[in-house]
Amino acid sequence: MRKSLKKRINMHLRQPADSADSISKKKALPSVRKRIPRRFIGVGSVKISDLEKRYVAAVLDHNRLSYGYYTNRFERAFARAHKVRYALFCNSGTSALQVGLHAMKKKYGWKDGDEVLVPAVTFVASLNTILQNNLTPVLVDVDPIYFEMDPMGAEAKITKRTVAMMPVHLCGCPCDMDRLVDIKEQYKLKMIEDSCETMFARYRGKPVGSFGEVACFSTYAAHILVTGVGGFAVTNDQEIAVTIKSLYNHGRDGIYTNPDDTKRGSLNQLFAIVSRRFNFIDVGYSYRATEMESALGLGQMRRYRQIIAARKRNARALTRVLRPFSDYLQLPSKRNGAEHVFMMFPMVVKDGVDRDELILYLEKQGIETRYLLPLTNQPVYERLWGHIEDDYPIAKHLNRNGFYIGCHPEMSFEDFDYVAEIFSRFFSIR
Ligand SMILES: Cc1ncc(COP(=O)(O)O)c(C=O)c1O
Repeated sequence: MRKSLKKRINMHLRQPADSADSISKKKALPSVRKRIPRRFIGVGSVKISDLEKRYVAAVLDHNRLSYGYYTNRFERAFARAHKVRYALFCNSGTSALQVGLHAMKKKYGWKDGDEVLVPAVTFVASLNTILQNNLTPVLVDVDPIYFEMDPMGAEAKITKRTVAMMPVHLCGCPCDMDRLVDIKEQYKLKMIEDSCETMFARYRGKPVGSFGEVACFSTYAAHILVTGVGGFAVTNDQEIAVTIKSLYNHGRDGIYTNPDDTKRGSLNQLFAIVSRRFNFIDVGYSYRATEMESALGLGQMRRYRQIIAARKRNARALTRVLRPFSDYLQLPSKRNGAEHVFMMFPMVVKDGVDRDELILYLEKQGIETRYLLPLTNQPVYERLWGHIEDDYPIAKHLNRNGFYIGCHPEMSFEDFDYVAEIFSRFFSIR
């Protein structure tokens, strides 16, 4: 750490009551200087309800850990909430994206090297799953307010080889779907929504996940539904749904999806299943989830409206307590026509504020932070494509100045007061 940075952080951290030196500082500073107990505010949290515990216990009691009653009900409930026909639960958002793209590549006859538009600010999994499918990710710079794929930038990157776009609904905020869907239709592209950070949110009344041919969600820690690991690929297309289900199950013949398939139907159907259930028709993956994740997820589906309401309420509270620092911080905005469900509370420091100095101070005070999904400066992509960061100026700005803190349902009024106090201490010493 640079010496001056260390000195400045220590200065921020010093509590006035700790030393004689602090007393003189106390006089100099206008804001509250009383000692407050340290708290911990994580970027996510998980609180398992009694219902979820009962569901998990029931799974264990019934000795059925692979696809069964809970996964089936979780999938149906999730599909209903997003107004899609099929929701297929697998073991991560990343695996959902990988099999989703693979199924699209197969159905639409895409060739290796065909291009997929993807924003220059997202989690690495968006990009990696394009690469893992032997497709070419074409990065599009983002807009500076919502940090999502800029439609004009996307249109400018379309070539003869562009087959699809992957808008990423970041931080809980749907993308500019009016314009992206227009471009998709005008250029006859397909769309896979990476909605791993955004669930249940609507854009002009239509749920995220229902705009493209496929959409993917994550239920990893700190997401909107939390099942440990897990993810959904959703679609309205039966052929794609069958392929996805086969692909995450080793590429197995779609006639057999789980042990219940052999318990119903005629003798002829049973024969068909028995004779084909060990047929493998694609080079697939082992990406199945278990009934325990589904039991947690199904339990949370019962209270997802409360989860979303709590996140929105928390975002309002954080905005209120942080607004006094808007000379220093760009606070999150709600896109016109979109419902923001705040998987996190993203911010961008303004000119003159050292982002790393601020987040180190927050971390030391127990407020967890993360960078705002820097992508274009990752060593792995530098190795593949050289120095690309300068080609995406807004992404570069966010790589250097963006960060987020938590906005999860377990946050309390005391947490908001604490956030206000800690930011106030940081900025009042500047
Ligand atoms: C935008 C985005 N895409 C994909 C993923 C991958 O999800 P998972 O961690 O479940 O694989 C994440 C995870 O946080 C994400 O934020």
